[in-house]
Amino acid sequence: MAHLLAPSLLAANFLNLEKDIKMVNDSQADWFHVDVMDGHFVPNISFGFSIISQIKSIATKPLDVHLMISEPDRYIADFKNSGADHLTVHYETCPHLQSSIHTIKKHDMKAGVVINPHNPVCLLADIVADVDIVLIMSVNPGFGGQKFIPSTYNRISELKELLLKKNSKALIEVDGGVDATNAEKLLKAGADILVAGTFVFGADNPTKTISELKKI
Ligand code: DX5
Ligand code: ZN
Repeated sequence: MAHLLAPSLLAANFLNLEKDIKMVNDSQADWFHVDVMDGHFVPNISFGFSIISQIKSIATKPLDVHLMISEPDRYIADFKNSGADHLTVHYETCPHLQSSIHTIKKHDMKAGVVINPHNPVCLLADIVADVDIVLIMSVNPGFGGQKFIPSTYNRISELKELLLKKNSKALIEVDGGVDATNAEKLLKAGADILVAGTFVFGADNPTKTISELKKI
């Protein structure tokens, strides 16, 4: 499978979000990556349901919603109603992860699990068969524009092995500090989906940057 690219709207221009959404619609990007932060699980607050509904009203590609919030189970139906196509929850926020994943699927969304950089990949051994996406954080979640953590390459290879061993068809997504200097190595390690915020929206020509990241 050719790899997928999901620009992170956290780095878009919020004063002209429509323009950036249309740019992604017309580009070679595959998904919109939408970061939800609550100021509790992570030390930053981003946006919630009304913005996501408005994004959905003009987006022509799936909304890949990454929840960085405590107690995500309380809001699964609300994210579905706001237009999320994929819902990814943190391992660290779900004491009943298997049940959370199944609730997401019951709401007719693709279900993802994400782990922070300090948590070993093997913690996901008994959930990978149930999920559609495993997201490996390559920075500590909460902010765009952070420095990529190099141990991510090994973590992706390890996850790839785990997926094979467990017969999981989950896609591997990587998020944080992704740019032209690490993208190829991430794909070689086994990543299927690259998330990129600052590198795309901070570029002089975001459309061209997207097509360059797709060409790798
Ligand atoms: C970080 C978010 C990322 C972020 C990526 O907590 O989950 O999706 O927007 O942004 P960059 O690509 O700038 O690191
Ligand atoms: Zn994210």
